[in-house]
Amino acid sequence: MEYNKLGKTDLRISRIGLGAWQFSYDWGLTEYREAKNIVSRALELGINFFDTAMVYGVGLSENILGKALREIGIKRDEVVVSTKIPGDFLNPQDIYKSVQKSLQILGLRYIDILLAHWPPCWHNFPTYKYARALEKLVKIGYVNYLGLSNFPIELVESFRNSLASSDVEVLQIRYNLVERGAEEELIPYAEAYKITVQAWSPIAKGALTGKYTLENLPRFDDVRSRDPIFDLENFSKIWPIVEKLREIGEKYGKKPVQVALNWLIMSSPVVVPIPGAKNIQQVEEFAESTEWRMNFDDWRLLEELSSRVNVQYSFSYLKYKEF
Ligand SMILES: NC(=O)c1ccc[n+]([C@@H]2O[C@H](COP(=O)([O-])OP(=O)(O)OC[C@H]3O[C@@H](n4cnc5c(N)ncnc54)[C@H](OP(=O)(O)O)[C@@H]3O)[C@@H](O)[C@H]2O)c1
Repeated sequence: MEYNKLGKTDLRISRIGLGAWQFSYDWGLTEYREAKNIVSRALELGINFFDTAMVYGVGLSENILGKALREIGIKRDEVVVSTKIPGDFLNPQDIYKSVQKSLQILGLRYIDILLAHWPPCWHNFPTYKYARALEKLVKIGYVNYLGLSNFPIELVESFRNSLASSDVEVLQIRYNLVERGAEEELIPYAEAYKITVQAWSPIAKGALTGKYTLENLPRFDDVRSRDPIFDLENFSKIWPIVEKLREIGEKYGKKPVQVALNWLIMSSPVVVPIPGAKNIQQVEEFAESTEWRMNFDDWRLLEELSSRVNVQYSFSYLKYKEF
């Protein structure tokens, strides 16, 4: 496993993390023993960076992850756990109460990184107010570092300007080979200010793995069946990339998923993908996406091919037929 420093800190994080949204009703992996085996295998493989959120299974993901880490008996300072507070809870009273609950559910004495999951879109909480309340948690020792997820640059800046003695060390953003919007502003910003980027959906929810094809898209009872990525029109645009990932992978003895993750870590030194696994084999494949690099020509081919993909998010609305 390769390691990076988290933001401007000395904290050592694995170059690939593990997302724990998969341990929730949304993804159907609610069996504790299976999830614990995934966490345990991740640790054996050198993955020490885990991501969860209060909303994943409304506590279930935090519960499973924290319990697994405790039962496995890993030393607290050998793992780095990020969790996220929803934008709707970003007023001081909700912040303090929900973080206290999160610590209880995780069963941890402190949270390594607390991120605001999304901006308070509907509630109009002033940025300086929640920034200071979150910073207070750092001051009193229950959170070590702060981060923001799905925030535009303007809000990142006003959040950072509201902090007195800490800074944003992590931005968590969607970033994968076919959804590269983060490259426009957020990744260059993170590189300039030494902020770690946790790349969420790094394998486009499985669309880049080759497991799904034009004839075999996620079933109607799968949370992804309504995801724009798996809309037939969008998926048709993505498919040539999946084929290219397979072709490139064959040269290196790697699977498409490993090439897709390798491309991300190769593209920016601050990017740390946090893919989610539903079984041990998947986490094993994640670990093997580090400690090698594809050659420049292969990187460029993927860059070129993926820059032509334009995922359309309004597809279901645009398909509406007036009566
Ligand atoms: N901040 C945010 O707003 C936000 C949003 C979303 C996610 N996240 C975080 O990012 C993490 C990962 O993103 P994500 O959940 O969107 O999805 P992802 O990591 O892009 O895709 C994960 C899915 O791909 C499939 N998969 C994984 N490994 C595979 C392999 N080796 N071969 C074939 N298929 C494989 C699995 O589903 P199947 O086996 O069922 O196909 C798995 O559930 C989450 O766990 C969460 O921590 C954050």
